[in-house]
Amino acid sequence: MLQGKNILIGVTAGIASYKINLLVRSLVQHNAHVKCIMTPSAKDFISPLTLATLSQNPVAVEFWNSKNGEWENHVKLAEWADLFVIAPLTLNTLSKMSHGGCDNLLLATYFSAKCPVVVCPAMDLDMYAHPVTKQNLALLEKHDVKVIPAEEGFLASGLEGKGRMAEPSTIFDYIATHFYCTKQLEGQKILITAGPTYEAIDPVRFIGNHSSGKMGYSLAKSALNQGAEVVLISGPSQQILDHEKLTIVKVKTALEMLAAVQEHFASVDLGIFAAAVSDYRPAETKAQKIKKSQEKMELHLIKNPDILAWAGKNKTVNQLLCGFALETQNGEKHAREKLTRKNLDFIVMNTLEDEGAGFGHDTNKVLLLDKNNNSKKVELSNKNKIANEIISYIYSNQ
Ligand code: C5P
Repeated sequence: MLQGKNILIGVTAGIASYKINLLVRSLVQHNAHVKCIMTPSAKDFISPLTLATLSQNPVAVEFWNSKNGEWENHVKLAEWADLFVIAPLTLNTLSKMSHGGCDNLLLATYFSAKCPVVVCPAMDLDMYAHPVTKQNLALLEKHDVKVIPAEEGFLASGLEGKGRMAEPSTIFDYIATHFYCTKQLEGQKILITAGPTYEAIDPVRFIGNHSSGKMGYSLAKSALNQGAEVVLISGPSQQILDHEKLTIVKVKTALEMLAAVQEHFASVDLGIFAAAVSDYRPAETKAQKIKKSQEKMELHLIKNPDILAWAGKNKTVNQLLCGFALETQNGEKHAREKLTRKNLDFIVMNTLEDEGAGFGHDTNKVLLLDKNNNSKKVELSNKNKIANEIISYIYSNQ
């Protein structure tokens, strides 16, 4: 997949550097040529031997290679790279990159690089939130450096917050997208719904489901990779996606999702509804936390609007619509009924019967159906691959 691409990985002295091993391994597994540069202090965190072994190339640290007595040519390294990824990026290296500090090989290579540069900052939450950090990241962006933002979560300091380096899989996806943005869907605008909805019972409880949002986000990624513009309407999800042609609308409830769909649907060529919308919501959301004073409690639920059915009613002849159906028995029959009832062009059927398929998994197994009675089985595969299959099925059977 990354056959023949030269990817230079710059590692600075952050604890997140231990995760770079996984990134390097994935890149090599996908046939990229990988070379690594480390700052001298990064060696306190991971060993150059590990990166050299995984990348199948010597690791450059100093200007002077004491083993063969040669000068490490930072200009040549920079010229070699099709993409330079600096991960993790510490506050120290960030500050030097944004203000011209050049006291190690990694920085000299950065200042010589003509290829696209991507950075993945990683630091403690207060350092990441500091106005100077924000200014410096903005300065890098001004100079066309792509910043993959830090993520929320558990930090090595024991604190929790924003500062974790983006996961290796996120960095890998960015790299894959960078090289494989085909233009097949250039000019197309696609609306995708993803994730669960949360229907509040009171300020602390809600009715939700196990949907992770992975399928919808993979669809968005696939569409973006092929040049489409995407409006992703996402219920609560841990998935992260960032792209210049992506508009993300974050919602919590089915009613909010409906409002977002109603706002954007008229402007798109295709709608793919992958969200697991809660069928019901509490008739009333209590303003205060419900006390556990009674032995029994009844919760009155009312039906949520069917967002996909609304889109089916309102679509024009030039718009395509694809829904999902999660079935536990007589799958194909029920999915076909749904396709007709909701006025869809396509439906993606998955069942919970298959090991590794459906909610929360990274893999899925689906049957693709269209309104002309065609169908295609896609065997258990990773959700990114399933997403590519769904999109190519839609565009080749429209
Ligand atoms: O009728 P059922 O819930 O099985 O239909 C599933 C399909 O309908 C999915 O594409 C889902 O995103 C969509 N849906 C919706 N709004 C609802 C319920 C389902 O958009 N309230």
